[in-house]
Amino acid sequence: MASLIDRSGMRGRVSAHRIDGVGTSIFTEITALAVRHGAVNLGQGFPDFAAPDFVKEAAARHIRDDHNQYAASPGVPRLRQALADDWRRRCPGAPDVDPNDEITVAAGATELLHDAVLAIVNPGDEVIVFEPAYDAYAPDIAMAGASARAVPLGQPDWTFDPGLLSAAFGPRTRALLLNTPHNPTGKVFSRAELEIVAALCQRHDVTVISDEVYSAITFDTVHVSIATLPGMFERTITIDSMGKTFSVTGWKVGWAIAPAPLSAALRAVHQFVTFTNATPFQEALADILPIAARDGYYDQLRADYRRRRDLLSAVLRAARLLPLPIGGAYFLLTDISGRGFDGDADFCRRLVSEYGVAAIPTSAFYADPSAAPTLARFCFAKKDETIAAAAPRLAALASKNPP
Ligand SMILES: Cc1ncc(COP(=O)(O)O)c(C=O)c1O
Repeated sequence: MASLIDRSGMRGRVSAHRIDGVGTSIFTEITALAVRHGAVNLGQGFPDFAAPDFVKEAAARHIRDDHNQYAASPGVPRLRQALADDWRRRCPGAPDVDPNDEITVAAGATELLHDAVLAIVNPGDEVIVFEPAYDAYAPDIAMAGASARAVPLGQPDWTFDPGLLSAAFGPRTRALLLNTPHNPTGKVFSRAELEIVAALCQRHDVTVISDEVYSAITFDTVHVSIATLPGMFERTITIDSMGKTFSVTGWKVGWAIAPAPLSAALRAVHQFVTFTNATPFQEALADILPIAARDGYYDQLRADYRRRRDLLSAVLRAARLLPLPIGGAYFLLTDISGRGFDGDADFCRRLVSEYGVAAIPTSAFYADPSAAPTLARFCFAKKDETIAAAAPRLAALASKNPP
């Protein structure tokens, strides 16, 4: 049927230059292929299991109690108080944070990363990122009119060369984007590494935006917030969210902890990006945080993820896809070179369409995909049955494409 709407009026370019290069990612492509081929989806980074009952009950209660109207733009006050209390629990010995001026709640870490970059980075500035880097960082930096300066994290332990990091700082460096525990590598930055980063940021008067959304998911290692290092609170925006920690990625409640001047800048952007986010979920988180701390929730979360990690690790090993060691987050990387594939993207496309398992190529986390190692990322935030269902499919791959 012919369209009744005349769509021929816009002859010129309709999009702004700031979104040049921001296109559909391989994540979207692999997800679409996973649906089309009925694949076991170990690609997307979110849980396929139920959220805890005490978490769901809290939100249901607040909807029933009619906490259904706009929350204050910086966040529901009792949630900010609960987050300040939680900071004290998580960072013993660190100075307290002020819930009035130093905590901002927004629509997930994704919004806060965007707000933070827009709030502090000027056009023409540079932002240092460790590569591989989570896929939102480059567009956030580009939309602020700035450019990213990549510092490689190298295999096998994903450490960085302090000389290369030091050389990345220059007169235009405005911010450094850190992610620990790190997606996709599972690296947890050690205190010694954070001290190197901190010293350089202090020397060059650079602000740190620290993405810590996997802070609760660590294995035999301690997560350290760079903001707790001497002299760092005043120059750090620490971003976290409840999505991974409470298995509710769709609730989109995140928060940023930063000194008052940085929080004020962040809030100026947040006020006109989303203004606020879902009130009942904010109210729920205020109830959830003290219950989780009291009832040993975090230990249970880590134990559950350890089991899933070991399960996926065994499934991958059986298919002779050796997983690299990790310290945190919920992904395993495997080297797929020498298996007859034309790079990691080719491997992932064929894995999903021919063998029915979705994984993500890590080249998607590099500005120059050709510089990336050939690694595929498998997510273990999945039911035991989901992980087990991948086993025969990966075994079929192993028999056809041995190492
Ligand atoms: C490193 C990293 N940062 C941020 C996010 C997004 O967090 P949120 O769901 O709170 O927006 C993700 C989600 O996958 C992530 O892996």
